[in-house]
Amino acid sequence: MAQVQSGILPEHCRFGIFIEAKVGEDLDQIRSGCKTFVKTLTELQQKFPEAALGAVISFGSDLWKTLSNGQGASELKPFTPLGNGLAPATQRDMLVHILSQRHDVNFTLAQAALKAFGSAITVEEETHGFRWTEERDLSGFVDGTENPVGDARPGVGIIPEGEDAGGSYVLVQRYVHNLDVWNNMPVKAQENAMGRTKVDNEELPSDKRQPTSHLGRVDLKEDGKGLKIIRQSLPYGTASGEHGLFFIAYCAHLHNIEQQLLSMFGERDGKTDQLLRFSKPVTGSYFFAPSLDKLLSL
Ligand code: HEM
Ligand code: MG
Repeated sequence: MAQVQSGILPEHCRFGIFIEAKVGEDLDQIRSGCKTFVKTLTELQQKFPEAALGAVISFGSDLWKTLSNGQGASELKPFTPLGNGLAPATQRDMLVHILSQRHDVNFTLAQAALKAFGSAITVEEETHGFRWTEERDLSGFVDGTENPVGDARPGVGIIPEGEDAGGSYVLVQRYVHNLDVWNNMPVKAQENAMGRTKVDNEELPSDKRQPTSHLGRVDLKEDGKGLKIIRQSLPYGTASGEHGLFFIAYCAHLHNIEQQLLSMFGERDGKTDQLLRFSKPVTGSYFFAPSLDKLLSL
């Protein structure tokens, strides 16, 4: 099987850097930049093995079509706004996702990315994420509990065969939280909005779970099978200023991610996710992360 890029499958990273960029005309620099980036990534992985450094480079649909001569990633498309503007589209050309146990090592690799791609990219968003206490989102709820673990991850996250083998579809949305609004809600109301209990992180029984709760929106089944995705989201921001969740998901099928989004933003049954009462996405892009082999042969 084709080698998978190293940032998709790791669990429990402590820090992440997300760089979203527009790409100009110089595609040769993008191709050579990918090779240079992976070389530095490999060197840093060897130098700091305990950091468990991983990274993923992925591409928006327009750029992917050009780089691949229109081959592969048949589900890929530009992100479009949802829910009458509740979810804006800011489709970028390229995403560099770096994660590990060490922010300092991540930062070194981010600098190497900027050097490798040089003037071929214009950075439009750079977000530094951190794992918060007990792997909780800044809302105070544990995030990631129902993520697939261990051996179950490749089956969910990685395209198993065909020309895209080893690849993955990606969604990113940066959410900005209003914690004053949230923290003024009684904990019971917060729990109803999420669909889990706060301190103990128990799933609310299905007869108590509201259809507009976050779990009610995203815990979807098709033909009796759960629509699974791999989430690598992290809290980000400053205590005094803007903060929230940098949402990122990987999946072998863009379909799974899209259905959850449509459900959250009222595009399936008119109902919207109660978590939008305190958090708003300010960006939205879909990307395709090719296998490592493909990335190095573009
Ligand atoms: C579950 C938070 C956005 C998909 C959860 C849980 C929390 C949470 C606390 C429960 C624990 C867990 O299983 O991880 C948030 C926050 C978001 C956000 C704070 C943004 C502000 C999204 C988006 C999607 C999504 C945009 C998909 C497009 C899921 C899925 C689950 C989940 C699939 C697991 C459902 C299950 O099988 O039980 N989220 N989430 N989330 N979330 Fe989100
Ligand atoms: Mg479930």
